[in-house]
Amino acid sequence: MAGQVIVIGHPLVQHKLTLMRNKDTSTSTFRNLLREISMLLGYEVCRDFPTTMIPIETPVAPTMAPVLDGKKIVLVSILRAGSGILDGMLEILPSARVGHIGLYRDPKTLQAVEYFFKVPESMGDRDAILLDPMLATGNSAVAAVTRLKATKPRSIKFVCLLTCPEGIKVLHAAHPDVPIYTAAIDERLNAKSYIVPGLGDAGDRLFGTK
Ligand code: URA
Repeated sequence: MAGQVIVIGHPLVQHKLTLMRNKDTSTSTFRNLLREISMLLGYEVCRDFPTTMIPIETPVAPTMAPVLDGKKIVLVSILRAGSGILDGMLEILPSARVGHIGLYRDPKTLQAVEYFFKVPESMGDRDAILLDPMLATGNSAVAAVTRLKATKPRSIKFVCLLTCPEGIKVLHAAHPDVPIYTAAIDERLNAKSYIVPGLGDAGDRLFGTK
């Protein structure tokens, strides 16, 4: 479906997000919360993933039971704040492969500039889950999806913690086929392209760099 946005309004997700938004939350707590919330987001992102039946033996009887084909999933982290989501996602998808896209925002143009790109070799039969806590201007997300699409993955989903109408509009204008999973859609971007009310700079809060 084109232009799909899935807001994960589960009370546990919303509670953890509120703690993360609070400016008095410490770096270590913020990091733990991001890992925990990412597991909960990951749970929803995997909801439509196909399973295959395999034969197993329980202590009681042989049976056929479903498994997720974890090897076909690639988690792609947009550096650097994507690493925070990656940690939680890997806890629930330990067999997933991992890719990294390094982008920085040119302070003058606000456009995304790529400095690193590494994904598994065989992308054609993989479902990619692109990770970035903040979908703000949408410029990095568009650049990351465009770059990822060139490797021809089977599908792409975009997962963020927070977004705003501007970011959704920009990403879906360029890539309407990529569903956005988020814990909240905030009001707007401010003049410095921060999400309002948001949670500040996700990278700085995650790594304690400010
Ligand atoms: N990136 C962030 O880390 N925070 C914002 O509010 C916007 C972009």
